[in-house]
Amino acid sequence: MSAHKIIIAIDGFSSCGKSTLAKELAQRLEYNYIDSGAMYRAITLYFLRNFIDFSDHDKVLEALANINLLFVFNEETQTSDIHLNDEDVEPYIRDMIVSEKVSEVAAIREVRSFAVAQQKRMGRKKGIVMDGRDIGTAVFPDAELKIFMTADPEVRVVRRYKEMYATNPHITIEEVRHNLELRDYIDSTREESPLHQAADAILLDNSVLTREEQLETVLEWVKDRATNPHPQGSAVH
Ligand code: CDP
Repeated sequence: MSAHKIIIAIDGFSSCGKSTLAKELAQRLEYNYIDSGAMYRAITLYFLRNFIDFSDHDKVLEALANINLLFVFNEETQTSDIHLNDEDVEPYIRDMIVSEKVSEVAAIREVRSFAVAQQKRMGRKKGIVMDGRDIGTAVFPDAELKIFMTADPEVRVVRRYKEMYATNPHITIEEVRHNLELRDYIDSTREESPLHQAADAILLDNSVLTREEQLETVLEWVKDRATNPHPQGSAVH
């Protein structure tokens, strides 16, 4: 692989495998992987734990001033864990109680400015894979490779249900379906940086692709962009 490091921005709907692809890419390319959703989830966890009224902008700003987020590399999992004020909160941020509120919190302008400023700084040295909802449109509009992921809604529900069932056997498939539909709706219709495919992003539908096929396809795109950066708006086939 070329030594020329690029920025890879991956956006898409909830639970369509963005983080799986992003982690595998980062490992193969020796890039940093940043799960931007973990930042919104950690902020939501802080708001819930501290009973912050999200509708009060002053209270939101006051709370954000007390939040320090840091990604810390975990040797065991070979990926970064998010720390909220020096506490590793990875075990809590994917609980349903956080998932139920995260899209509401992520729609708040002050919350987005807070997270996006940190995300932009993380990309200064390139060599980064970041996944989320607005990475190719707002965080890194000049990213060399932008991917917009999608998958059949029912495939996504079943994938997330299996993941959540492993830690919470009381969860029902209906709860999971409702949460994914609600988050996709809020994320795509909010005023601040709504989820949409950037004009120069490549669409990747992984409903019927294996993890290996998906990874090999995207590594080809990376090779192409890293050796021959295309002007914005051009397509890669
Ligand atoms: O893992 P999943 O795709 O279900 O979600 P996530 O990446 O953990 O993101 C959780 C939520 O954070 C999303 O539903 C969005 O509301 C918000 N988010 C966002 O607004 N912008 C991002 N760049 C990443 C996540």
